Amino acid sequence: MSSPYRLGVLGSGKGSNFVAIAEAIAAGRIPAEVGIVISDVANAGILNHAAERSLPAKFIEPGRFRTKLEEDAERACVEALRMARVDLIVLAGFMRVLKGEFLRAFAGRIVNIHPSLLPSFPGLEAWKQALDHGVKFTGCTVHFVDAGVDSGPIVGQQTVPVLDHDTPETLHQRIHAAEHELYPKCVAAIARGEISIVGRRVTWNAN
Ligand code: GRF
Repeated sequence: MSSPYRLGVLGSGKGSNFVAIAEAIAAGRIPAEVGIVISDVANAGILNHAAERSLPAKFIEPGRFRTKLEEDAERACVEALRMARVDLIVLAGFMRVLKGEFLRAFAGRIVNIHPSLLPSFPGLEAWKQALDHGVKFTGCTVHFVDAGVDSGPIVGQQTVPVLDHDTPETLHQRIHAAEHELYPKCVAAIARGEISIVGRRVTWNAN
């Protein structure tokens, strides 16, 4: 029997995408198990959600930088993920940019979810950028992670209409709901080996 596909989840915040993925696993919709949950924020909700489900969870002290992990922290993170024998790294609201050593250690095996239809509105507060720009549709994107910011090959996208009376908060809320549908679907397809990548193009080979 082959060993189950294992996920390493990294997050800095409340962890609602992690919950959506954990629920999809529990419901048999993702053929995988969670190997470890790691956060750079000691009291992050994502760590509580992991603990509630008796899943291994770890806080890693990020060090002195605001937007990236200090070298030792990045090494500790790689080590913990290797020890947990994870096949795929799932970034679920992880607020730091991952650097060379981490990217090399898990090349082509890191995915992220971003709250806009990339390549529009990369970076912070993407829902607010979309609203300020006046687009009529935005959404969310699951993509592989490369050395750029929100720039890797796109696995899947889900659209969300922008309504006339939207505020940043109401729009963000609906994007979040779309994320909870899209991320588990994309992770399931990857775990099932149904995804292939040629250049920037990711195709779904479900039969
Ligand atoms: C999501 O909006 C995601 O797009 C972004 O970070 C947020 C994480 O939310 N990368 P949560 O912690 O999963 O609730």
